[in-house]
Amino acid sequence: MSSSSRHILTAPAWPYANGPRHIGHVSGFALPCDMFSRYQRMAGHRVLMVSGTDEHGTPIQVQADKEGVGTRELADRYNRVIAEDLRGLGMSYDLFTRTSTRNHYAVVQQIFKGLYDNGYVFPRTTMGAISPSTGRTLPDRYIEGTCPICGYDGARGDQCDNCGNQLDPIDLINPRSRINGETPKFVETEHFMLDLPAFTEALGAYLRGKQGEWRPNVLKFSLNLLDELQPRAISRDLDWGVPIPLDGWRDQPNKRLYVWFDAVIGYFSASVEWARRSGDPDAWRAWWQDPAALSYYFMGKDNIVFHSEIWPAILLGYAGQGDRGGTPGSLGALNLPTEVVASEFLTMEGKKFSSSRQVVIYVRDFLERYDVDALRYYVAVAGPENQDTDFTWQHFRERNNNELVAQWGNLVNRSVAMAAKEFGAIPEPGELTDADRALLERSRSAFAAVGAELGRSRFKNAVTEAFDVVRDANGYLSQQEPWKIKDDPARKGSILHVALQVVDDAKTLLTPFLPSSSGKVHALLGGEGTWSAMPELREVDEEGGPSYPVITGDYEVEQARWEHRPIRPGTPLAKPTPLFAKLDASIVDEELARLES
Ligand code: MF3
Ligand code: ZN
Repeated sequence: MSSSSRHILTAPAWPYANGPRHIGHVSGFALPCDMFSRYQRMAGHRVLMVSGTDEHGTPIQVQADKEGVGTRELADRYNRVIAEDLRGLGMSYDLFTRTSTRNHYAVVQQIFKGLYDNGYVFPRTTMGAISPSTGRTLPDRYIEGTCPICGYDGARGDQCDNCGNQLDPIDLINPRSRINGETPKFVETEHFMLDLPAFTEALGAYLRGKQGEWRPNVLKFSLNLLDELQPRAISRDLDWGVPIPLDGWRDQPNKRLYVWFDAVIGYFSASVEWARRSGDPDAWRAWWQDPAALSYYFMGKDNIVFHSEIWPAILLGYAGQGDRGGTPGSLGALNLPTEVVASEFLTMEGKKFSSSRQVVIYVRDFLERYDVDALRYYVAVAGPENQDTDFTWQHFRERNNNELVAQWGNLVNRSVAMAAKEFGAIPEPGELTDADRALLERSRSAFAAVGAELGRSRFKNAVTEAFDVVRDANGYLSQQEPWKIKDDPARKGSILHVALQVVDDAKTLLTPFLPSSSGKVHALLGGEGTWSAMPELREVDEEGGPSYPVITGDYEVEQARWEHRPIRPGTPLAKPTPLFAKLDASIVDEELARLES
């Protein structure tokens, strides 16, 4: 491994275990992170990719009520579904775990204690909403009203989807319960607050240092949050979540840490779990304590505040680096995010994805009918990287047929098929022409260009540049017309050698986006062993506790490296089978009919 090899934590957001994920979700947090992680591994870095299901709080409780099961049972159910879906997408997690583990509880409580000892969390009497008819606490997001900041009428108690601001239910104008429309009653209740104003300086310095590095939208949004930092409640009146580890609180059945407080700590607790499972309990330190280590967090834009403000504040407070000073807790000072990479939203056929209104395509259904790489390609080239983007089946079909099948699939197929038929092996190159050299140089130089884009999470640019190589190679073949050459086998061999070399380069360039089909190309060209490793599901437990599935994988065995590799003349070739399936026009109508049913 080269001396510039670094430790890179890659951290995709934790999906709520309250239902299967749809492709709108995974286009934001999951697939971009996997593309980035695969690229960084290929470039020789030590990547640690950790996440899991987010299993506490209101979102889980509400769905459990709906399905008539307990919260734990609900979380068990969807943890499994989601883990299977994410494995199916080829998400190369080192560990995909869950927030209901003992390890997570212990780590969260440890961090809370560190914050408490440094004075950054404190109890306060606040006003909490209850339902007058049932007497039960009304969760924030079950209260609706007019946003006090922008005047939007459909604001939720926790957040306004119109202006993106974090809210407290009591600030809503004209609040009402979304369950039955009644006006909630506000009563006194005791909660722990995170002292965000004590981090104004430290967060400001941190965020201003990211100028020119983060996506402009993300940084602007984050900097704006600094203008009005308020103490924020990090506990809830709820019986499902991590107990508050202090005397007088620990045993209260209806006081739990706020789901977002525990969830963001999951990135760290999952790293600790990974280290323990890998046999070296201290292995997490290289990613969290070495100041040279890097960390990249991937999510949809509604998650920005938690990753660019609350999570850094927790880390700063734990390290004793806010206005109140303090000393690092026993885990030491932990690294702040190098970058918060947030995507915009994906809509579906002009509408917001919505499970309740059936405007949705779930990952599992998608993968049953289509190739995983067709989705990965679509997300890379047409995903919501910098603006809200609409998924349409028509558009998906066109990208698949015109680009994956007609450009890349066709290039692979015709060069391998011709070389197999005429030579039975990769032919020797003869003397090269200017056109040959130009194309070879073109694909070799693409490594630096595509790599630079991938390293900055510019997936659309990256995949487009990689595809330009494919297009140029197709143009080269059309120009050279090797199929017309009848009596000059040497020239024919040279052309096919050049084409196959560029196929090999292009498969490398496309590996972060299209890991499975790139593996097939590797095999078609006579490559052995694992080109690009795939994640697997494993059943684990915590010393006799209940078992649960995790996603993990052995990514060190993979051969994929971010470099040009000379192909070896004489390597036997066989007639290829198509890489991608062409999609019939009828799928568009079928899928639209499904959406409406
Ligand atoms: N569960 C949240 C969502 O789906 C994301 C949590 S990210 C975490 O929007 F880091 F906080 F876990
Ligand atoms: Zn608003």
